[in-house]
Amino acid sequence: MKVLVTGASGRVGANMVRRLLAADAEVRALVMPGDPQAAKLAGLSDVEVVPADLGDQAAIDAACAGVTHVVHLAAQLVRGDTPVDRFFDVNAFGTLRLLEGAVRAGGVERFLLASTDGTYRPGDPPRVPLDESTPQEPADYYGTAKLLGEVILRNHAAQFDIPFAITRFATVVSPEEAGAVFTLGYLRELLGRVALGRDSNLWQLFREHPELVTLLDQAAGDAPASTPTVLTGPGGAPWSIHLVDVRDAVEGVYLALTHPDALGRAFNIAGPAPTSFDDGAAVLADGGPTLTVELPIRWRLEMTVDAARDTLGYRPRHDYRSMVASVHDDYVPARV
Ligand SMILES: NC(=O)c1ccc[n+]([C@@H]2O[C@H](COP(=O)([O-])OP(=O)(O)OC[C@H]3O[C@@H](n4cnc5c(N)ncnc54)[C@H](O)[C@@H]3O)[C@@H](O)[C@H]2O)c1
Repeated sequence: MKVLVTGASGRVGANMVRRLLAADAEVRALVMPGDPQAAKLAGLSDVEVVPADLGDQAAIDAACAGVTHVVHLAAQLVRGDTPVDRFFDVNAFGTLRLLEGAVRAGGVERFLLASTDGTYRPGDPPRVPLDESTPQEPADYYGTAKLLGEVILRNHAAQFDIPFAITRFATVVSPEEAGAVFTLGYLRELLGRVALGRDSNLWQLFREHPELVTLLDQAAGDAPASTPTVLTGPGGAPWSIHLVDVRDAVEGVYLALTHPDALGRAFNIAGPAPTSFDDGAAVLADGGPTLTVELPIRWRLEMTVDAARDTLGYRPRHDYRSMVASVHDDYVPARV
């Protein structure tokens, strides 16, 4: 198996490259030209590193030559100052260019696309838990562009007989990032996305409630940003989020890339269970105090991984406690 991995210097990609090497695959790693994070691949003498932008069809065609499998992880994730059309150019048309490259190179045995829970409208999820048959109506640039990537893949697969699979990740967390998730500082940033208005992927959660950050700050007083913090809905109704450790995400991709029954299907890839904010903050507090803030809304973003478990044998190993405890384990951190 000779695998082209896009986004190979990313959070998932750098770990995916190592997972494939461990399975004795040949790996060609596509990275953004000039990306300093490509240093994550230094020292992997067996890996062919190919700088190429997903906007550059000729470079993509060259990168696709001779590969049997594609793992397409590269994406534009962060809103920031990113022009809106870049989400579509990278996540949708970048996927199209890669598929064109694969077709021109004579086809591949499997094309794996990484997609997202963001295609299920994370600010107002239509179901709890979300399964793969949930309507995908994202209502933000990122989720919509990722969904377009899925649609383009399905079209190309039908038109050019490309064997494919899709993984839809929950929020991917690298162990060194995990300790921040249920802290006051992280949640202030999360709720602070209200300032982005409809540019936020969670705007539907916030649209009626611009006061959320004020409520949080009033409850927090001068508590430090590292304070383990529980958000609840009215009457203490628990909030929850589904995380996936980057190592489990990698395993899900590997299974979807190699399992015969993955063909033509999409699989949610998430941790063993959603994490309630109660449980997450308790892990961080380790017996110490937590701050609890009751808000006028409830948020539950939960997925089921039944399809990946039953079809692929996917068994995620890392719950939130395990992520936090794994900081010194063997993985590549999100950023170097
Ligand atoms: N991180 C998450 O919480 C999350 C959740 C759901 C789905 N996903 C999906 O998983 C995949 C991997 O995510 P990640 O967390 O590793 O992201 P990341 O930001 O760490 O990595 C993305 C990579 O894509 C590369 N890239 C961006 N634009 C490019 C372009 N024009 N040409 C070539 N390369 C380009 C970046 O250089 C980077 O290495 C993405 O497809 C993302 O949409 C991530």
